[in-house]
Amino acid sequence: MSMKPDPGWWKTIFDDVYLLTDARSVCDQDITRREVDLICELLPIRSEHRVLDLCGGHGRHSLELCARGINHCTLLDYSQHLLDHARTSAAGFDYPMDFVRADARSTGLPAESFDHAFIMGNSLGYIQEPGSDSQILTEANRLLRLGGWLLVDVTDGAAVKESFNPIAWHEIGTDIVVCRERNLEEDTLYTREMVVSKEKGLIRDCNYCVRLYESHTLGALLEEVGFKEVDVHTDFSPHQRTGDYGFMNRRMLGVGHKL
Ligand SMILES: C[S@@+](CC[C@H](N)C(=O)[O-])C[C@H]1O[C@@H](n2cnc3c(N)ncnc32)[C@H](O)[C@@H]1O
Repeated sequence: MSMKPDPGWWKTIFDDVYLLTDARSVCDQDITRREVDLICELLPIRSEHRVLDLCGGHGRHSLELCARGINHCTLLDYSQHLLDHARTSAAGFDYPMDFVRADARSTGLPAESFDHAFIMGNSLGYIQEPGSDSQILTEANRLLRLGGWLLVDVTDGAAVKESFNPIAWHEIGTDIVVCRERNLEEDTLYTREMVVSKEKGLIRDCNYCVRLYESHTLGALLEEVGFKEVDVHTDFSPHQRTGDYGFMNRRMLGVGHKL
């Protein structure tokens, strides 16, 4: 069976099933806290700063920043489902977050609205048209004030290629099994993902693909769209245990300054 996805796969996949299949990474509060420790280490965020959580999903990083007293966080994502999830969580804590549903390539937000922006959790490389990641980073650059910072956290393509695993599966609780079949073609990783509930049967069978970056290509992309003082930190592995965590272990963090 072909693993070539529908080009718009990223518009529909980020829902409750994603929150199950990726729960080990994106619903683990301890991992999110460590990722936010890194955000705070790499970006000079102060409590009065306006922060953009671009492609922020269900808002775990913004929520944790709010818990740390950063009160001007805007969560932007395409998935209405994940935004609704975030809105409910923020309301539960009375956090004053803003929510925007938009395509990160063209957000419609005013230029220079933020002091910092970050794109966490391997959220680049989904759109197959050439130049789409560059469009997202150009938009991030436009949204930052002069002197603002961008942080991009993506899987380390070199590490993925080195330990390429064509078949992986993991269980979630007693009911769910997630099976992934992968094919690597140059810098794109194609995946077929099947999610089976022992109780209900097959609940998802989908294909997706992600463009992989290595430290030099991520650095070059940040420079190409105009960021200065670009630095790429490799070797961020939030999972302590060995196992196949898809794109969510062996990550790298690219930082750029708008000057
Ligand atoms: C793997 S999730 C990570 C979410 C979040 N950053 C985290 O670490 O939990 C990727 C997210 O990127 C969003 N996304 C991908 N491409 C996007 C685009 N062009 N515009 C807006 N959101 C996008 C998806 O909707 C999804 O919520």
